[in-house]
Amino acid sequence: MSEAADALARLRALQAADLPVHGGRTLAYVYDSGLAEVDRAGREAVAAYAGSNGLDPTAFPSLLRMENELVGFAADLLDGPDTVVGTVTSGGTESVLLAVQAARDARPEVDRPTMVIPSTAHAAFHKAAHYFGVEARVVEVGADFRADVAASAAAIDERTVLVVASAPSYAHGVVDPVAGLAALAAARGVRCHVDACIGGWVLPYAARQGRAVPAWTFAVDGVTSISVDLHKYGYAPKGTSLLLHRTPQLRRPQFFASAAWPGYTMLNSTMQSTKSGGPLAGAWTVLQTLGDRGYAALAADVFTAVDRIVAGVAAIEHLDVLAAPDSTLVALSTDETCDVFTVCDEMLARGWFVQPQMAFGRSPRTVHLSVSAATLPAVPDLLDALAASVAAAVAAGPVQVDAAVAELIAALDPAALTPEDFDGLLAASGLVGEDADGALALPARMAEVNAMLEIASPALREALLVTFLDRLTRPER
Ligand SMILES: Cc1ncc(COP(=O)(O)O)c(C=O)c1O
Repeated sequence: MSEAADALARLRALQAADLPVHGGRTLAYVYDSGLAEVDRAGREAVAAYAGSNGLDPTAFPSLLRMENELVGFAADLLDGPDTVVGTVTSGGTESVLLAVQAARDARPEVDRPTMVIPSTAHAAFHKAAHYFGVEARVVEVGADFRADVAASAAAIDERTVLVVASAPSYAHGVVDPVAGLAALAAARGVRCHVDACIGGWVLPYAARQGRAVPAWTFAVDGVTSISVDLHKYGYAPKGTSLLLHRTPQLRRPQFFASAAWPGYTMLNSTMQSTKSGGPLAGAWTVLQTLGDRGYAALAADVFTAVDRIVAGVAAIEHLDVLAAPDSTLVALSTDETCDVFTVCDEMLARGWFVQPQMAFGRSPRTVHLSVSAATLPAVPDLLDALAASVAAAVAAGPVQVDAAVAELIAALDPAALTPEDFDGLLAASGLVGEDADGALALPARMAEVNAMLEIASPALREALLVTFLDRLTRPER
């Protein structure tokens, strides 16, 4: 066997431990069209452009052309006026980071800038706050898990550089009242960003197909920028999102140039400088292959799946849909006799990956489902697995956190803990252990670990998980 063939065989063997990206049974992280031909075309394009460099659009003009075509398609999809411009980024988080950075840098006169975000906004906004020194003014959402316009109005002041809305929010799958938020931002001369990373490519088709979707695109006055990911419901290979601005002037502060060194003048539209042309070429190829008609058909499938899941869940005792979904994300809650985290473990044992979401603010624990078009034929299986998992969770009873451990966690101050304390806590939490060879081992079932993490304060949970990540990422020599 040649070395290359050997390396590829080892690669495939390693990959066998990962969650499946096809088959529609992984209901977070991946988005599956179920169309093998589309997938193959996207992957071929990634491979063909893996060595191309998006750093310089004059050196690789094909990448520039593909970027402008992708943005053009998105501008039409999102009701953009003729002035709309956009940029391909590496993912939703980069699009969000750049929207916040541009909003901050457009207002250099503002000392200690703030942004007003609903409590359900994606964590990427907290990352942006952390990276760029923009204070996040978090406004609690209403009982329907949508942004509270009146409370948001009260949170805007002369230091506010950005108001944020989600279309939809990741955790609950509902669209914020974008028209209300954008109007109050515009009245105060503030930018309004709509984070449609997860819904932006599918909601326009839902609206065209007659589903009730509240207005959220550039058709809404006052919306100044929109993020939308191709690597989610664009069904493109991982690594592409778009950030669109209503005008070139709004985008201007996002760009960066530096001639302050002896090499080439660095000129970047995104956070990366050298960047693979692969993801952009992959997304462009998937878009060309599917086109408007292909996306419409996939949207019809995914919404049929969502409707069947919602109807099927209504027939499962102890299980509920938390909020009627506006898009393709479904959050499921349980009654007190059924432990959500156990349901997630039981689903995994039945070949379904669903994502546990911890209680936060007014939101109870939930099971998150990001439904894909490929899930449609498997919906009856999914509902059977949910019914069986709920029954197993009810039979198993509540997950108990040891009272002494709970007391210890409640008393801990994450800022005062040493690395050794964290190692001890990680071991006590069951998050990491060691196998017979002394290697790091992860637990097979997560319900107890999740229950323990949930009672930790968000700050302690963050600190524990950062320690966990540090332990995971150690060189193999
Ligand atoms: C609404 C929303 N915004 C931003 C992001 C971040 O996207 P990414 O994981 O591609 O960085 C996500 C991811 O799920 C999302 O759902």
